Amino acid sequence: MRVIERVRELQAFSEGERAAGRRLALVPTMGALHAGHLGLVELARRRAERVVVSIFVNPTQFDDPADLRSYPRTLESDLAACRGAGVDVAFCPALEELYPAGHQTRVEVGELARPLCGAARPGHFRGVASVVAKLLLAARPQVAVFGEKDFQQLLVVRRMARDLCFDVEILGAPIAREPDGLALSSRNQRLSPEARRQAPALARALAAAERAVSAGERQAAALLHAARSELEKAPLLRIDYAELRDPETLEPTPERLAGPALLALAVFFPARKAGAEVRLIDNRVLRAA
Ligand code: PAJ
Repeated sequence: MRVIERVRELQAFSEGERAAGRRLALVPTMGALHAGHLGLVELARRRAERVVVSIFVNPTQFDDPADLRSYPRTLESDLAACRGAGVDVAFCPALEELYPAGHQTRVEVGELARPLCGAARPGHFRGVASVVAKLLLAARPQVAVFGEKDFQQLLVVRRMARDLCFDVEILGAPIAREPDGLALSSRNQRLSPEARRQAPALARALAAAERAVSAGERQAAALLHAARSELEKAPLLRIDYAELRDPETLEPTPERLAGPALLALAVFFPARKAGAEVRLIDNRVLRAA
């Protein structure tokens, strides 16, 4: 596995692979790799001959400096995980490589970036869209893989790539979970032990809403109530948002659902150590057709 730190070097690698007729897949990450990330790598390997994983904690997408400071950084074990997963290139740029001194350009997506995490974390998706645009231009992949766990991020990136004429397919990968249902996340390791025990409440809330839909419930308020009741069983949890949205446009759903609806949840839990609270998200598309 090659470790590349420079944009120019990655561009040269990509050009060589393209010239040799090999397809490249990019898996952007912020490191602290877990089985969810490696699932993305596996999907990437099925879709391309060469897989590039980028590892870069992108400061511009953190609205809270304490959150950025406490984000886990585990480069050595990340590189070992990439080697084990058959990654061809780990792209680990320094800050100035992606944000050169005096930088003043940002990529901003409109409506899709406004609700949910866009409302809760001002500027977050501007940072995500900006760094993903840079990573796509550095790696020039035919395919880039993103997890459905960050459902809104997937939609924002897909729209950005289309709107800016990137010649890349944006693929979504299903959510990887712990046996108790908790969606894998780099942030899980920051939960206090009691918060970790209560964290599967998110998955249970999604399942409760899904069961209600299966039982014929179509009222958005009743489905949200079913989800919130599960969340409220976890006393350490504080709800950031629990919303039903159109899974393509992210517009609010009608009061009575007539098609698929995204149930998106974001909550806070206390951290194991001092530092920012731990913010967890999860989602599920309810098939209320
Ligand atoms: P990060 O949180 O490291 O996640 C990297 C990718 O892994 C994202 O596409 C995310 O959706 C996916 N992922 C994380 N947990 C997952 C899980 N349990 N199941 C499936 N996929 C999962 O998302 C980011 O980094 C950044 O915003 C980034 C896109 C790298 C831009 O900085």
